[in-house]
Amino acid sequence: MKDTYILAFESSCDETSVAVLKNDTELLSNVIASQINSHKRFGGVVPEVASRHHVEQITACIDEALEQAKISAKDLTAVAVTEGPGLVGALLIGIMAAKTFAWANHLPLIPVNHMAGHMMAGALVDKIEYPAMALLVSGGHTELVYVEKEGSYEKVGETRDDAAGEAYDKVGRVMGLTYPSGKAIDELAHKGNDTYHFPRAMMTTNEIEFSFSGLKSAFINLVHNAEQKGENPVQDDLENLAASFQAAVLDVLIAKTKLALEKYPVKTLIVGGGVSANQGLRERLTTEITDTKVIIPPLRLCGDNAGMIAAAAYIEWQKQHFAGLDLNAKPSLAF
Ligand code: KG4
Ligand code: ZN
Repeated sequence: MKDTYILAFESSCDETSVAVLKNDTELLSNVIASQINSHKRFGGVVPEVASRHHVEQITACIDEALEQAKISAKDLTAVAVTEGPGLVGALLIGIMAAKTFAWANHLPLIPVNHMAGHMMAGALVDKIEYPAMALLVSGGHTELVYVEKEGSYEKVGETRDDAAGEAYDKVGRVMGLTYPSGKAIDELAHKGNDTYHFPRAMMTTNEIEFSFSGLKSAFINLVHNAEQKGENPVQDDLENLAASFQAAVLDVLIAKTKLALEKYPVKTLIVGGGVSANQGLRERLTTEITDTKVIIPPLRLCGDNAGMIAAAAYIEWQKQHFAGLDLNAKPSLAF
């Protein structure tokens, strides 16, 4: 069979990324331009700022991705792009670039769900055996998705309120850490112990559901109450605070993943999304999920990147699922 080369675009949040994937797994390039330094001082991603950065970066990212892959436009098979979920203005920049590139080079256009991308990052490093379950944990999402066969996604549980990454970023702000604070909390947590015993929500229900807003409030209340008593745990006990918060998040993520695996017996557990970079989560999944194959992508594929979008697009390409040039951004796209 002829080789396929997919040029993929990702611009749903604060990373501008363009990648070239050869066939199903050979990632020839995966260029990522991060804007995080521009958003840090605002304590979160500013949508308008994100869109402007995408406009500035995207052409250079295309050139760089093609150059690193040592391929020219005429050798490509298809163009793929994240259509949602994400920030509407940010998504539109990637979509406009992808459409223009596809039109100018007479290539088919493949729309990709960003969360399917996070899931398929795993396919770039290991063989997913179906049926599979995916634990997707990012700044905007916390969900468990049943994948009966390649490309067929069914969400079986999600968070009722905050996403896991969002909880990390919100308590990170109280801890005086810069945005996004998941990685810093993870590092601090490794040096501390769970001394505060924060609440674990939904642990007694038999439902595949998460909730992290109560944990966030408990954390904030504890810090404020301590301050009123003249104590300062953020200054004096940061490692234990981080370890206690992380233990509460991970206990729930692990428990609900185990519940999902009980309810839906599968051959592979795939983990994806920015929070899958968490060392504590990676260790616990590896040691505590023993009767199902677990695929956790390497760190470079955990955060937003176009390589994962290309991997999900390859499945759609096989089914010849293409979009027209009227493709629009879908900010709330869900499985
Ligand atoms: O998937 P992602 O790059 O962007 C979204 O699609 O949301 O995820 C970003 C999220 C942020 O909330 C960040 O704090 C979190 O992933 N994150 C982590 C770690 N590294 C990134 N959370 C916990 N531990 C980490 N090591
Ligand atoms: Zn993401």
